[in-house]
Amino acid sequence: MTAVALPARVVGFPFPFPHETYRYSTNVEPAGTRAVTAAGGWGEHPVDVDEYYRDELVERDRVLAADPSRFQALPHMDVAQWETMTTLMRMLADAHPDRFSLTRIGSEWHWRNGELGWEQSFVPGDPDTLPEPPLRYIGRQVQEDIVLLDQRQGALWGDAGLVTFAADWSLRFDVGMSFLQIHGPVPRVHEEGVIPRAQQFLMGLQAGQRYRRTNWTLTVDRRLDTATETYPDWGRDRRLLAEGPLADVGRRLHLRVEVQHLIRLGASNAILFLIRTHMLPLEDVALVPEWAQRLHDILVELPDDIADYKGITRTRGPGIDWLREYAGTHN
Ligand code: HEM
Repeated sequence: MTAVALPARVVGFPFPFPHETYRYSTNVEPAGTRAVTAAGGWGEHPVDVDEYYRDELVERDRVLAADPSRFQALPHMDVAQWETMTTLMRMLADAHPDRFSLTRIGSEWHWRNGELGWEQSFVPGDPDTLPEPPLRYIGRQVQEDIVLLDQRQGALWGDAGLVTFAADWSLRFDVGMSFLQIHGPVPRVHEEGVIPRAQQFLMGLQAGQRYRRTNWTLTVDRRLDTATETYPDWGRDRRLLAEGPLADVGRRLHLRVEVQHLIRLGASNAILFLIRTHMLPLEDVALVPEWAQRLHDILVELPDDIADYKGITRTRGPGIDWLREYAGTHN
């Protein structure tokens, strides 16, 4: 197939299009197994440490310092916060025992993050043993954005989170809302039953069960923070890209894919929702010709209301034009 070795960012990229067209669906599958792609694969670990680890965590800290409201936690989520922290620490230690460890002597636990050079002894449930709330502390050590959902009154509620890399939504606005309310602005999914079905599915998850799904959009440049709050900083780039030279599109326009994990926590009964954002410029997508052709075809066929909601009305044209030379090249 490919003569030159593909870079790691391509080999591990979660290319999200198994079908020739794209529609919203309750696309969940069990987590923890490697998903195979034309370039390699992804998905062995729910928490994925890659070459961007340090840079992305510096970026998370920058965003958090500029806007502390990217961390939210309602008071009844304390138990879930602690459980999230210890769960994610265990996942990191299991996936990369050389760099992360979690040990326990009696009631005292010890955490070591060799990647960042952090060490911390703590007693779960005792806030005085941590420098900051547990969800904020662990969120600053994983590349994933985090939302915690409480389950009560036959519904799910987004009652805590640390989200610095949102694709055009706002945690501060959404915190305390129900799962159905959070998805209020998404077209089609309510009439088609996608969201009510997803909620039923999630409410039925048993302790320890893990599922995953993907979502995608297009982003100009490798900009992780495209939250509603910073729209004035990034909104116009879509128009400027569309008005600029086509030659820039391959380098600047990125396929942005979220790998989302859904995990039932056993003690708090909360659902841990992890959102990991991967970005690949079109010129890297084109290193895998079948990806370039598939993305081209998906963008051409995508209905306008979905394109509008994804915020790609201006950029999909330039994307299609740049990818056109790959259309029909691969069968
Ligand atoms: C957006 C489906 C789980 C929060 C969306 C979209 C879909 C969707 C189709 C539109 C995406 C786009 O056009 O790019 C689902 C399904 C889920 C699920 C099927 C589970 C099986 C969750 C969970 C949360 C969540 C657990 C956490 C609270 C959001 C948010 C948005 C969104 C904040 C953006 C809404 C906005 O524009 O304000 N979801 N989702 N989703 N989802 Fe989910």
